[in-house]
Amino acid sequence: MPELPPFSHTPKRYTGLPFEEVMRLRQEHLTPALLTYYEKPVMLVEGKMQYLFDEKGRRYLDGFGGIVTVSCGHSHPGILAAAHDQLDTLVHATTIYPNQEVAFYGKALADKMPGDLSVCYFVNSGSEANDLALLMARLHTGNYDLIALRNCYHGGSQSTMGMTAHGTWKFNTPQGFGIHHALNPDPYRGPFAGHDDPATAYANDVKELIQFATPGRIAGYIAESIQGVGGAVVFPEGYLAKTYDIVRAHGGLCIADEVQAGFGRTGSHYWGFESEGVQPDIVVMAKGIGNGFPLAAVVTTPEIAASLTSHIHFNTYGGNPLASRIGRAVIEAIDNDGLQANSAQVGSHLKDKLIGLADKHSLIGQVRGKGLMLGIDLVTDRTTKAPATAECAAVWNKAKDLGLLVGKGGLAGNVIRLKPPMCLTMEDADFMVAVLDEALTQI
Ligand SMILES: Cc1ncc(COP(=O)(O)O)c(C=O)c1O
Repeated sequence: MPELPPFSHTPKRYTGLPFEEVMRLRQEHLTPALLTYYEKPVMLVEGKMQYLFDEKGRRYLDGFGGIVTVSCGHSHPGILAAAHDQLDTLVHATTIYPNQEVAFYGKALADKMPGDLSVCYFVNSGSEANDLALLMARLHTGNYDLIALRNCYHGGSQSTMGMTAHGTWKFNTPQGFGIHHALNPDPYRGPFAGHDDPATAYANDVKELIQFATPGRIAGYIAESIQGVGGAVVFPEGYLAKTYDIVRAHGGLCIADEVQAGFGRTGSHYWGFESEGVQPDIVVMAKGIGNGFPLAAVVTTPEIAASLTSHIHFNTYGGNPLASRIGRAVIEAIDNDGLQANSAQVGSHLKDKLIGLADKHSLIGQVRGKGLMLGIDLVTDRTTKAPATAECAAVWNKAKDLGLLVGKGGLAGNVIRLKPPMCLTMEDADFMVAVLDEALTQI
């Protein structure tokens, strides 16, 4: 059986509630809508960098980072020190009172942005941030309609559920007024797969959608830089640039949802959109921005930001001293620990090895993604690309039993998602490959 690389941390002895009691209380008092991973769920009680521990002290490699959120590592020492210091000083006051922490943080984040993206609005979750981005785009342009993509995920609030285009995540309630979904520019599964110029073909679909479904003037266009929940889909080269031109020609703003792809995860760049050579008007961030602390942001230009000043807009926790200090510590940790370069190096090693696994396992239809944001699309037949949903669930469960936690995505739930903390080592990557090889062999 594959063995985890050695690691010196010894978890504390767990003295809390047993697994069965936690599950009983959870079932009795928490919403039945909670999604619980795995046939036999794993209870996690401690984390250290790229590893997690269950109540019995068993160690797992975290290949999913708490859904692409633990960017720098669990209990990262620098982030913990900053959080402890701020907890001892001032946790909350709201931004109605000036405090240096939100000022420092706004500058630190703006310094990471290209062009005139220099104004930050801090909130607590990706859904809130996307809500706000939509509001800003509508206010700034005076237009109403928004173009999003099929297979995208932008959140679970009323308006972001409307932006999201995965039937599995949409309830039968009114949502998404004025939001239209263009064809997903998926080079593997999309209708223009194999087309000689897929970038233009998919961009033209956005143009036609604007012409047919809207008054011809739009508020904006939103896309994840690499689709996350949709299964690590990377768009054809040149697609975003062509689409941004079309959107701007119809009066719209371009919104990049960097909730999963941002903060160095793609390896080659700090932001996912940068590798597509585009400059968005609004950038939405969450998840990895806080390394597990509830924090999110919308960053835009001074002109667009000014659109929110006509009335009062307020977010109670957004940018409070604790959140701001942690957010700044995350940026420092990514820089000091060289996490972007590590994502590039370890990510490309991991991807190469996974592509190698495809020679051995016909279930693997495609390995895709960038840096440490990778997906393995499992198919029952490489010609029809029929999704191997049941097999994917079996591999995912088996990987957990072998000590590796990974995610699952795609509309049909047939894509293994690998998005570990960016401190993953080469040895960890080899362990991941060995586990997936073993799991694929066993099923
Ligand atoms: C790309 C993307 N945008 C937005 C969101 C919504 O973030 P949150 O769950 O923090 O509201 C998610 C969550 O998975 C996401 O993946």
